[in-house]
Amino acid sequence: MFIQSSLIAVALALSATASPMAEGMGTRIPFEKRNGITTSDGRFDHARAVQQVVRDRNKHRNNLINLERNMGRQAFNEGAHIRPVANFSSTHESGNDKRQAEALTDEGGDQYWAGNIAVGTSGQTFLIDFDTGSSDLWVPSVNCTSSFCSKKHKYNPASSSSSASKSGKFSIQYGDGSTVSGPVYTDTVNVAGVSVKNQYFSPVNTLSSMFSSEADDGILGMAFPAISNLRQSPFFNSAKTQGVVKNGVFAFKLAKSGSELFLGGTNPKLYSGSIESHPVTGSGFWQLANAQVKYGSKIIDSGFQTIVDTGTTIIYGPPSQVANFYKSIPGAKLYDSNNGFYSIPCSSVPSNVSFSWGGQQWAISAANFNFGRVSSTQCIGAIAGQDLGLGSNTWLLGDSFIKNVYTVFSFDQNSVGFAKLK
Ligand SMILES: *[C@@H]1O[C@H](CO)[C@@H](O)[C@H](O)[C@H]1NC(C)=O
Ligand SMILES: *[C@@H]1O[C@H](CO)[C@@H](O)[C@H](O)[C@H]1NC(C)=O
Ligand SMILES: *[C@@H]1O[C@H](CO)[C@@H](O)[C@H](O)[C@H]1NC(C)=O
Repeated sequence: MFIQSSLIAVALALSATASPMAEGMGTRIPFEKRNGITTSDGRFDHARAVQQVVRDRNKHRNNLINLERNMGRQAFNEGAHIRPVANFSSTHESGNDKRQAEALTDEGGDQYWAGNIAVGTSGQTFLIDFDTGSSDLWVPSVNCTSSFCSKKHKYNPASSSSSASKSGKFSIQYGDGSTVSGPVYTDTVNVAGVSVKNQYFSPVNTLSSMFSSEADDGILGMAFPAISNLRQSPFFNSAKTQGVVKNGVFAFKLAKSGSELFLGGTNPKLYSGSIESHPVTGSGFWQLANAQVKYGSKIIDSGFQTIVDTGTTIIYGPPSQVANFYKSIPGAKLYDSNNGFYSIPCSSVPSNVSFSWGGQQWAISAANFNFGRVSSTQCIGAIAGQDLGLGSNTWLLGDSFIKNVYTVFSFDQNSVGFAKLK
């Protein structure tokens, strides 16, 4: 249904070819909401948060393995290193997590911002997590017979005349012997009317347990080819090369309602004022240099790298810098030393934590800074101290930051920009 209405939107956009503007020349994918790691009654879902930390660590471990293979170690940020595989059992604090562990199954389903895509001539539909922190597309395969795939949509090449089997293998290790892996295929991939032919992807035969409770079927990576495991052009890069989007620009609005990904430009209905753009540094990630984080008017840290990653909720900083950050916040305490979570008084969750890159201060609202209660008085903050291996001076900005701004990713200008949400 929405694919059809989007096709109309694309047709309209294509007929307006005279305009030189990037704005409005594209197509939108509405998203289902994501709750993240707070339960519906406002508690911090510790088990789910730890699962996300493990996933994020392993995702970026794999990104670095791919980056080293594709570009060599000189493409690494200062101090970047490939960490050991993170295991759920080794990072999970068992014992007092029973209530939260329940929530994991109850609430599984809305952790990732997800939208639909169609693969193949028969238009096999998948609910997809659009991830600016990775660069490959994978969906479950008909050959995935484990219980982890039981609730997933599955790709069947036999029902698509445009399907082609390719050589090679796709594999990402997500924990305790747990991988997402499968063969390599090409087929037509249609995202809200943007239809790419011969897109490389993997129909995966094995799925990590970490994905079994999620509502989404797979991931569509939107970062740079340099971190692709398939060593192929990611979906949006193919769309630009094949001329099915006008501009090499896409933009996210992530919010409680009205979330969308816009392909081929920006959606002027969703932001006001101009877009403050900054050049991408490095070759694999949507990474910006010279960032600064402030608490009110107090500069906590500056001159660091930031990677903008829609695939996680959490904001991660190097453990020592994050410890330093919470030292400035009255009443803050270390909550979980394994995973770098800190608690702060629920009665004074700050709305004056902001990041900047030499322009405006982009603040995180109190609601977005608060991951939920862990006691009658303390709540978990959105910034966690964790070494993801991405560099000793590198922060990763997940949705808790992105939800506060309209975020524009441009391959054309090799930049990331921020604008005020309307
Ligand atoms: C599924 O397995 C069959 C038999 O091994 C194989 O021919 C087919 O290519 C596989 N399909 C996918 C999508 O992996
Ligand atoms: C995680 O599990 C893998 C596979 O079982 C094992 O090789 C590795 O040593 C474990 N890592 C940690 C940190 O426990
Ligand atoms: C930041 O906000 C908190 C809570 O609203 C407030 O108590 C604090 O004074 C502010 N800090 C600065 C440095 O502006």
